Amino acid sequence: MLLWNGKLVEEEQVRVSYRDRGYYFGDGIYEVFRLYQGNLFEKEAHLDRLYNSLREIKIELKWNREQLSEMLDELAATLGQQDGMLYIQFTRGEAKRAHIFPEVCEAVMLGYCEPLARPADLIENGIEAITLEDIRWLRCHIKSLNLLANTLAKQEAVEAGAKEAILIRSDDTVTECTASNLLIVKDGVIYTHPNGNLILDGITKQVVKRLAGELDIPYVEQAFGKQQLVDADEVFLTNTTMEATPIIAIDGRPVGTGTPGAVTRRLQVAYVEMVE
Ligand code: PDD
Repeated sequence: MLLWNGKLVEEEQVRVSYRDRGYYFGDGIYEVFRLYQGNLFEKEAHLDRLYNSLREIKIELKWNREQLSEMLDELAATLGQQDGMLYIQFTRGEAKRAHIFPEVCEAVMLGYCEPLARPADLIENGIEAITLEDIRWLRCHIKSLNLLANTLAKQEAVEAGAKEAILIRSDDTVTECTASNLLIVKDGVIYTHPNGNLILDGITKQVVKRLAGELDIPYVEQAFGKQQLVDADEVFLTNTTMEATPIIAIDGRPVGTGTPGAVTRRLQVAYVEMVE
């Protein structure tokens, strides 16, 4: 079942117009939720960010938050008690192609769920990453459907034999990855880029910050450059589907010992206790 404009329908019933502004302009926003045993993880935080993205690009919905929240529960229930993901997007809607916002337009909602196991192997063993220039726009806090710079970078990473690209602005500021936040550990302290327009305020990162507090691991939101990145003892990424995944090599060179580090492990243990 899919969630289409407020209703649960079969895939065949979904009709999206060729005139949808999401299709022409990427004029919309999205969210990715995690389902653990059928439960929407950090639902309110995702809804907060969803509404923030909508506000930022001036899309108004005819459904209120309570109604939307119920729809997400109904959609999630179609998957049963499994681990999975829930994707939802809103576009500005259907109109004749013109850059200016249409005078009359109704936002189009589309959502679905998929079973998705926790990526145990990646979480346990880590991944390799490459560094690339961050050429994205300057509103990265909006979860926009415009992901061309992200998809190009991800493709380049995979073609280079890695799994993720770490993005660095031309002024040497390490921001985040193509679909995840980036955190480093040096001398027992976690560093990550502060929230703002250069990164997405990841929900998983918020959870990790909370866990770091509970575990008395110092956590500093402070920008850093490439040298600090490659000199870090540990590097890890966070996102909804990959949780806290170690990055064990960057541009072909090992990070620290080249194996997942102790701080990352402590956070992973705390994370699993929360979601299992
Ligand atoms: N991406 N930064 C970027 C650019 C992202 O696209 C994501 C998530 C994150 C981490 O956010 P969170 O912890 O809330 O998932 C950071 C999702 C998973 C995606 O696009 O598929």
